[in-house]
Amino acid sequence: MDQSYYLIQGKRRLSGELMVQGSKNTVLPVLASTLLVKGKTTLFHCPRIQDVFMMTAVMEQLGCKISWKNHDLTVDTSFLKGGNLPLEYTGNLRASVLFMGALLGREGYVTMGKPGGCKIGKRPIDFHLEGFSKLGACVKEREGIYECEAKALSGAEILLPFPSVGATENLLLAAVSAQGSTVLSGCAREPEVCDLAEHLLSMGAQIEGIGTDRMTIRGGRKLEPADYQVPSDRIAAATYLLGAMVTKGEIRLLLRGNNKRMESILKVLEQMGALIDLKEHSIELKMSGKILPIYLATGPHPKPPTDIQSMVLAAALTASGPSFIEENVFESRYQVVQELKKMGGNVVISGRKASVSPVFTLYGSKVNAPDLRGGASLVVAGLGAKGNTIIGSLDDLKRGYEDIGKDFRQLGASITEIIR
Ligand code: UD1
Repeated sequence: MDQSYYLIQGKRRLSGELMVQGSKNTVLPVLASTLLVKGKTTLFHCPRIQDVFMMTAVMEQLGCKISWKNHDLTVDTSFLKGGNLPLEYTGNLRASVLFMGALLGREGYVTMGKPGGCKIGKRPIDFHLEGFSKLGACVKEREGIYECEAKALSGAEILLPFPSVGATENLLLAAVSAQGSTVLSGCAREPEVCDLAEHLLSMGAQIEGIGTDRMTIRGGRKLEPADYQVPSDRIAAATYLLGAMVTKGEIRLLLRGNNKRMESILKVLEQMGALIDLKEHSIELKMSGKILPIYLATGPHPKPPTDIQSMVLAAALTASGPSFIEENVFESRYQVVQELKKMGGNVVISGRKASVSPVFTLYGSKVNAPDLRGGASLVVAGLGAKGNTIIGSLDDLKRGYEDIGKDFRQLGASITEIIR
């Protein structure tokens, strides 16, 4: 466990410019897609985060070769040793479930340990497994180990009960290897799902309906490795923008890739009073007055993403009026509230709903990051708080941010990582 902590001296106005890291939720499924074919793929602008290191560690165990050159990651999947995912990794890394679809297609079988519960909710993988069965795989669970086998996958009609991001991605990864057409309805439309689908197109797959809730995949085509430019992470971008908002700052973020992915988030920040100028490769944000109260109901894309909820809640704590939040994706995503209360936040939780009564100011305190975005929420709160905030339990933050402290320092914040 990481023993280090962040020390933030709050109330420093943010300003300046920052290049936003590559998207975590794009790069993880794209990494899984490299297992579909033999050969080398380079992912440019790849974030150097713990989740990527864990994914590549699993890939090395599977026989892949991994090499880094600054932010460019090359994986060579020529000598895969089979479809048995190392059990010691899969319990800790949820995204390793994304290897299942690709390995089923390439190796005809896959085994993996149960990807465990999670701090933000139960996160079962039933939609993934039911989808694999529809594609002709025999799926068994024995003593916490999933075994899926299919001599050949064949196209099918699959209707997802909820637009799960991971299940949509996993089924796309399996369906490109299935003979015939697969119609995937009720699927997720998040920009990161589109990123994966478009990358599969560039590998030679045939997919129609990208960006809609119904994709048709004509499988069985020969795929080839294709290099990939990782777009900027919209959730990391939201973190820096909210940091600027709570300090009445003015910042410019530089973005790689299609900037349309930012729209559902920027709408929320504008409702909270930010002046935003979205350009083709950058976002400029200026915040002059108080944060305005917000009604935020998270949901599948194009609704506002659940991943910004904790950070928006932190910013709403000192708004000019009461805010209401409804978390419609994960059942346990308010754990950070007990930490925010230590800083003076006034929040009442009732099931999926949170009522935020604003306070004049937050006060620096000693808090612990309960999960990845909860950690980012505490950083945002600390930047806007009076006095010093100490944030411990940084492991989860490092899964998703390459160096959130360094990034905020570049924007003028006083945030130091103290290594114990
Ligand atoms: C992905 C993102 C995560 C984001 C989430 C929702 C990655 C690596 N992670 O997670 O950052 O918060 O999408 O946008 O991309 N569900 C089931 N059964 C299933 C699958 C999902 O019941 O088989 C439920 C989940 O418990 C949850 C909801 O569906 O309540 C959405 O989950 P899902 O979209 O699958 O999230 P992830 O793909 O795990």
